[in-house]
Amino acid sequence: MSATPRRIAIFGATSRIATETARLWLARGVALVVVARNPERLRMLTDDLGIRAGGLAEVDAVTADLADLDALPALWQSMTDRFPDLDGVLLAHGSLPDQARCEATPETMLHEIRVNALSAMSLLTVIANDFEARRRGIIAVIGSVAGDRGHRSNYVYGAAKGMLAIFLQGLRSRLHGSGVTVITLKPGFVITPMTQDFDRDGLLWVRPERVARGIVRAFERRRDVVYLPWFWRPILWATRLIPEPVFKRLSL
Ligand SMILES: NC(=O)c1ccc[n+]([C@@H]2O[C@H](COP(=O)([O-])OP(=O)(O)OC[C@H]3O[C@@H](n4cnc5c(N)ncnc54)[C@H](OP(=O)(O)O)[C@@H]3O)[C@@H](O)[C@H]2O)c1
Repeated sequence: MSATPRRIAIFGATSRIATETARLWLARGVALVVVARNPERLRMLTDDLGIRAGGLAEVDAVTADLADLDALPALWQSMTDRFPDLDGVLLAHGSLPDQARCEATPETMLHEIRVNALSAMSLLTVIANDFEARRRGIIAVIGSVAGDRGHRSNYVYGAAKGMLAIFLQGLRSRLHGSGVTVITLKPGFVITPMTQDFDRDGLLWVRPERVARGIVRAFERRRDVVYLPWFWRPILWATRLIPEPVFKRLSL
């Protein structure tokens, strides 16, 4: 079984975590298809990656709004028509919602569920069938430690990431033995544009380069569920042990 796919599609490729991961893969000679919604940011990304690749690896770009759920099956079909050797995907797109706005209006809450869960689940439905038929491929999705337990501060985001984690768990089980690997990635606190309004001092905050190294390693080792960095696994284990009558009083 080959360690790393030959050609990987990265959805939400302009994300800081995805960009750092793309740089590492390029350095390993992996061909990339980068998918993002903002054409200007996508062009800047492909310019940067093209210079870094120095002609040693291919980088192709696709523009798509991944919240447009109806368009996703045709998007994947067009990508595999163009790149029939696609055998890896990383789903990185997401948004950290304003929790107060999500509490105020169902429309905002539903939009965030669409961006953070339904979009990935729609894409995964077509990608999984495709990879299953070809009996190969690696599917990896960036979830979050926020999906492991509902917090008052971000439970809409957490609910979306939690839904995604359950979906991936079932998909992994369904595809077990089919030659297709399904990886759930759960970063903790990462210094990226998504968290720019937070006070990012403290030992738990890490740079996106570290998370990217963990993602590349997860692909090489074909892991199931990976906390990034590793120390979030015992933290979340302990958090889940807190009884609900106590947990609901914590201002987390
Ligand atoms: N930073 C953290 O602490 C942290 C922790 C746990 C998990 N995560 C997860 O890690 C992933 C990457 O986030 P990041 O930290 O690297 O943040 P980021 O740099 O802000 O990246 C978020 C990306 O999602 C894209 N996106 C949002 N809505 C989209 C849509 N409808 N269609 C296409 N692309 C869309 C954004 O594209 P535009 O450039 O067009 O806006 C942006 O490239 C996300 O899934 C996030 O939930 C982050």
